[in-house]
Amino acid sequence: MAEDPPDVSGPDFEKGVSVDDVPDGSLLEGHAFGESVLVSRSGEQFFAIGATCTHYGGPLGKGLRVGETVHCPWHHACFSLRTGEAIAAPALNDVSCWKVERRGDRVFVTGKVDKKSARKPKSSPASVVIVGGGAAGGAAAEMLRREGYDGAVTMISADEFLPYDRPNLSKDYLAGSAPEEWIPLRSADFYREHRIDTLTMTSVAAIDPKKKKATLSDGRSLGYGALLLATGAEPVRLQIAGVDLPHVYYLRTLADSRRIIDKAKTAKHAVVIGASFIGLEVAASLRERDVEVEVVGKHPQPLEKILGQQLGNLIREKHEAHGVKFHLRRTPASIQDRQVRLDDGTTLDCDLVVVGIGVRPNTELAEEANIATDRGVLVNEFLETDAPGIFAAGDIARWPDPRAGRIRVEHWVVAQRQAQTAARNILGARQRFESVPFFWSNHYDLQIRYVGHGSGKDRVSISGSLKDNNASALFYQAEKLVAVASLGRDLENLKAELALERGAEFHPL
Ligand SMILES: Cc1cc2nc3c(=O)[nH]c(=O)nc-3n(C[C@H](O)[C@H](O)[C@H](O)COP(=O)(O)OP(=O)(O)OC[C@H]3O[C@@H](n4cnc5c(N)ncnc54)[C@H](O)[C@@H]3O)c2cc1C
Ligand code: FES
Repeated sequence: MAEDPPDVSGPDFEKGVSVDDVPDGSLLEGHAFGESVLVSRSGEQFFAIGATCTHYGGPLGKGLRVGETVHCPWHHACFSLRTGEAIAAPALNDVSCWKVERRGDRVFVTGKVDKKSARKPKSSPASVVIVGGGAAGGAAAEMLRREGYDGAVTMISADEFLPYDRPNLSKDYLAGSAPEEWIPLRSADFYREHRIDTLTMTSVAAIDPKKKKATLSDGRSLGYGALLLATGAEPVRLQIAGVDLPHVYYLRTLADSRRIIDKAKTAKHAVVIGASFIGLEVAASLRERDVEVEVVGKHPQPLEKILGQQLGNLIREKHEAHGVKFHLRRTPASIQDRQVRLDDGTTLDCDLVVVGIGVRPNTELAEEANIATDRGVLVNEFLETDAPGIFAAGDIARWPDPRAGRIRVEHWVVAQRQAQTAARNILGARQRFESVPFFWSNHYDLQIRYVGHGSGKDRVSISGSLKDNNASALFYQAEKLVAVASLGRDLENLKAELALERGAEFHPL
């Protein structure tokens, strides 16, 4: 969202290009009828689709072609080259699809394809109830309709708002560079038009898997044919004196982000407790607002647990260059009106405290319904729980990843993709969830793309130059590549994703 869509440039496909300019498997970006168009070829077949990703406007021409799909270099959304369909999140809208004609040894784009073929699901439950209106809930509701499901869909959310762009809450939105209209994923009209009933500020209080019934916080009850649990996670609360003071904030919801923004308008000095992704993104955004920031982290390097020592060090130096002060190997002991006191007695002056010390999956609903849980809701490869007809996706789901074994992650793209797969499986598709986990994180001009599932304790091999923002960190467990984090090497990160998916060798630049 921070990045502008690319300008219309490259060859004019209305005037045609030589077939030799489009080698088999390549991606050629140009334009037609005033729009950016991507032309590609499989043998004697030519494809043309919109060249700009519908997520944040990434340039698909710089992405990776895999079979008859193209993967966006920024956050790995996947589009069909044949139809323009957004096959995999985070893009939720299709790109346009264009007619291509070959005349002699030239290829022309001749106009847009309007019609989309309607789908019919293999099976149709009487109704679908979605518990949660975040990344997973929203993506599932949309996918049910996209797959042609005609029955009742109800999405129930404890949040006061319809699904919104949560990752932005600690980034551009908090920094003040993303306008309000970027935040909702869809308008209320979208849900009405797609006959998705939405209940906001409403919780599901209980589920009865035998009677196939959900009881809502307002006392109503709702029967369902299939149910998706997508209740996400809650911030872990700090347990020290002073945590209830009015200048202490957590960040999970749009309302939280707005409260921090309000406070940051007058705050001069913030203490961020927790040096992981959310804490550091908050630190960067508050620096954009000219608030002095000190970060307290219990590990020797920020993010070391996930990214390892070298990347953690790089990120710390980047923040320090922007004026952030770190207090590492430290924990907070107490919070007072204008100070945070650390475990070694140091006191930090502040008028704003943001706590980002991790999250805890919202599994109570599943536990109380006797659905199997173990540090998350247990699902099989089809994302179904041990209660037939009840699926789970997103931050709560612990699933059998084909490479890493049973894992649970807290990544936006994983939540949306799991929800898309769960929705298809609710309709009888029997599709395994096998996507390689992916997340991104931004720190000033550092944009990290991470594929796979590793740990900061893995052996890490750096290819390229971290200080030049042009490198990949390769994470190995027992000499097996398990994850790759890239800076300034978006295409390489896509190639790593493909290699991990296929169990193939991966060679960085
Ligand atoms: C500030 C911030 C920045 C982030 N940045 C990134 C990033 O850059 N990259 C990345 O990969 N990930 C990022 N994440 C993580 C990402 O947002 C989550 O992994 C993702 O939102 C999980 O989706 P979900 O649908 O499982 O849960 P959520 O999006 O949290 O949605 C859960 C929903 O369920 C509702 N709910 C809970 N209990 C009930 C109930 N009983 N009844 C009804 N509704 C209920 C909640 O109100 C909420 O609407 C970020 C998270 C935060 C908070
Ligand atoms: S811009 Fe394409 S996936 Fe985000």
